[in-house]
Amino acid sequence: MRIDVVTIFPEYLAPLDLSLVGKARTAGLLDLRVHDLRAWTTDRHRTVDDTPFGGGAGMVMRPDVWGTALDEVLAGGGHLLVPTPSGAPLTQRTAERLAGEEHLVVACGRYEGIDARVAEHYRTVPGVQVSEFSLGDYVLNGGEVAALVLVEAVARLLPGVVGNPASLVEESHGAAGLLEYPVYTKPPSWAGLDVPEVLLSGHHARIERWRRDEALVRTAARRPDLVRALDADGLDAHDRTV
Ligand code: ADE
Repeated sequence: MRIDVVTIFPEYLAPLDLSLVGKARTAGLLDLRVHDLRAWTTDRHRTVDDTPFGGGAGMVMRPDVWGTALDEVLAGGGHLLVPTPSGAPLTQRTAERLAGEEHLVVACGRYEGIDARVAEHYRTVPGVQVSEFSLGDYVLNGGEVAALVLVEAVARLLPGVVGNPASLVEESHGAAGLLEYPVYTKPPSWAGLDVPEVLLSGHHARIERWRRDEALVRTAARRPDLVRALDADGLDAHDRTV
């Protein structure tokens, strides 16, 4: 998979050299390229923004600069992803869908955002898909942190990136639609707290049942919206008693 990130702060993306994503790049599983938007400016001051039409506070990023950059980066087609607090929430399902695509381009806005014509224009370009996404209902200073989040969420789903693919199966926001159950390791007793007895029992079926119950209780307490969204078929008779 190829991912291009366009930003005025390329250094912000430096953590993508580290850890699993860094390894995926070195192994050739992910072709990640970070670009400085200012490389596409033509004036002496390398201007990327201007005052908003209609007035108001802050600055808006210019469509002409973004257009030159994106025409080049999206030349072969791809999925343009624009982080913005007014986008659709980024979910694990979105990450799964994106992990199956060939080319993603993340356009990181700053200030009050990117001129709305940029997304509008690329929606009309053949071979280009546009999605505006949000990390959540809060405002960041720009799209860079959202780009980091998106790249990590997608890259770990690419074949070969996570060493043991089984660890992707049971985690929070996995197929069950529940948060993950609590996990424990050695020592079995710490700070006066004991690991739940059942986990030491070696009884596989009882452990599975306990984990499912804990996941349900946790999800109901912390994310009742997820429990409501569960498919009726996703709950078994025992679940309903938890
Ligand atoms: N840019 C600014 N705030 C954001 C958010 N909440 N999600 C994605 N991109 C953003």
